[in-house]
Amino acid sequence: MVGNLPFDEVHHADDDVTAQGPEPYAARLRRQYSDADNLNARLELHRRFSTNPYGWTRWVFDQISLAPEARVLDLGCGTGLLWKANAGRVGASCHLMLADRSFGMLREARGNLGNLTSRASLAQADAQALPFVDSAFDAVIANHMLYHVEDRDCAISEIRRVLRPAGIFYAATNGAAHLRELDQIVGRFMGVPSVLDQNAQRFGLETGEAQLRRHFGKVELRRYKDSLLVTEAQPLLDYAASSMRSVTKEALEGMRAFIEEQLRDEGGIRISKDAGAFISRR
Ligand SMILES: C[S@@+](CC[C@H](N)C(=O)[O-])C[C@H]1O[C@@H](n2cnc3c(N)ncnc32)[C@H](O)[C@@H]1O
Repeated sequence: MVGNLPFDEVHHADDDVTAQGPEPYAARLRRQYSDADNLNARLELHRRFSTNPYGWTRWVFDQISLAPEARVLDLGCGTGLLWKANAGRVGASCHLMLADRSFGMLREARGNLGNLTSRASLAQADAQALPFVDSAFDAVIANHMLYHVEDRDCAISEIRRVLRPAGIFYAATNGAAHLRELDQIVGRFMGVPSVLDQNAQRFGLETGEAQLRRHFGKVELRRYKDSLLVTEAQPLLDYAASSMRSVTKEALEGMRAFIEEQLRDEGGIRISKDAGAFISRR
């Protein structure tokens, strides 16, 4: 939050400040995920410059055990990349339920399902009030989404409710060190608090376990080792412009000059990644 706001309402701690005044977190979240463009810009940075050749989507799928006839809920499915990247590994009798609050995301996910289409359904749903009966799924996946949910305790209890007693809940997220160097650059030119820090505080690798333990008896954390080595300025600017913060043209120009100087001096910018997945059972 920036001081001396031109309005005298009480603002949410996560409000961002735009030229028109503060934009509440919930409105920013809706705008951020109204379609897949912002998320795709960020995924592109990881796709092009990650140093671990194994690949996050393959690794995260490796952690998920799916019986051949499993019923699976992917909550906050986004663009459905998990299924696009691992389509050949999904059992022929599995049934997928892809759910997201954003209709635009579901539209993109549907286009990414390919030959899984006949084994999948899509639902526009909020994690805090899931439109599914008790014990409907053998597995629930909620990757990189719980930090966006306002009432996480309610969402995690909903997830437990829709899981069969022997079902498993998979929740990937980031840790406090994730993209730290990039976040510092963005913060320096935009002068607003770090979005990534806020995410890690809400539901991150350091803060997620205690929240899950309120609903699940066994919680295990597995981490994925990776980093970025970025050799071009534009993908970093695209990432910054796609973030939850409001970005001015001046800020982007300042960032470009700073990044290009670093690239000239060092040849590349190394950025930490810190991601992993919680695996929870009753
Ligand atoms: C960072 S994206 C993650 C997408 C995907 N799971 C992945 O790992 O690539 C977060 C997704 O969560 C969705 N989302 C945010 N809040 C939600 C809520 N309360 N209920 C359901 N989906 C939500 C957003 O619309 C967005 O598609």
